[in-house]
Amino acid sequence: MSALSVRDLRREDIPLIDAYWSSLTSEDLERMFIDPKKLSADADFRNRLSKLIDTPLLDRAADPLIWECDGKAVGFTNLNNIQRGFEADIHLHLFEGSVRAKGLGRRLFAKSVQKYFERHDLKRIVCQPASTNSAPNGLMKALGVPVARTHQTIPSAICFEHEVNRYEITKTWVTEICRLHELPMTQQKSI
Ligand SMILES: CC(C)(COP(=O)(O)OP(=O)(O)OC[C@H]1O[C@@H](n2cnc3c(N)ncnc32)[C@H](O)[C@@H]1OP(=O)(O)O)[C@@H](O)C(=O)NCCC(=O)NCCS
Repeated sequence: MSALSVRDLRREDIPLIDAYWSSLTSEDLERMFIDPKKLSADADFRNRLSKLIDTPLLDRAADPLIWECDGKAVGFTNLNNIQRGFEADIHLHLFEGSVRAKGLGRRLFAKSVQKYFERHDLKRIVCQPASTNSAPNGLMKALGVPVARTHQTIPSAICFEHEVNRYEITKTWVTEICRLHELPMTQQKSI
């Protein structure tokens, strides 16, 4: 069974995230409705990540976490638009296609959500994938989080406006989500 963990972003992870954004194909960009112009214009993101690492947790505007499988960084999640006492937005990415659709994302996402609720005073965590993006929508379905609504919006600064499914993950869901993410890989299909 693979060991999955979630940890704080370190300075040496920044090139990995940079490489991920640079490696996106036109298909990837289309699937996530990312505007390549906004992506390439956001050259300052490495500095922002670097500054975040030096900022005390509760003063951070965003809280990126690295996903690890057997000690290797395989992806990341980010919490941004943090409105303490209320809600924040979550984003999720596995770096390589070869590690996707094997049950890792669901379990690492669950661990991240648990950590974010522990760390930040939040009523809910909002995830808004494109309504046509099968993997994140499949992940939410697998975790039993219902679609709160489907609407047009710009869910992230690098995106075009598009139709998204809005998922609102509340603390009520966390107990169930935690139970699920502790299941060994061999049982993943029964989740
Ligand atoms: C989104 C992402 C993190 C999900 O992680 P993952 O490890 O691939 O997902 P899981 O294997 O845990 O799958 C969870 C559920 O979604 C379903 N699913 C996963 N990928 C799917 C796909 N491409 N098409 C249809 N269903 C899919 C799985 O079947 C699974 O449900 P099941 O076990 O009941 O069948 C990952 O696919 C990814 O990084 N994708 C590219 C980036 C991206 O689109 N990010 C979201 C931006 S909003």
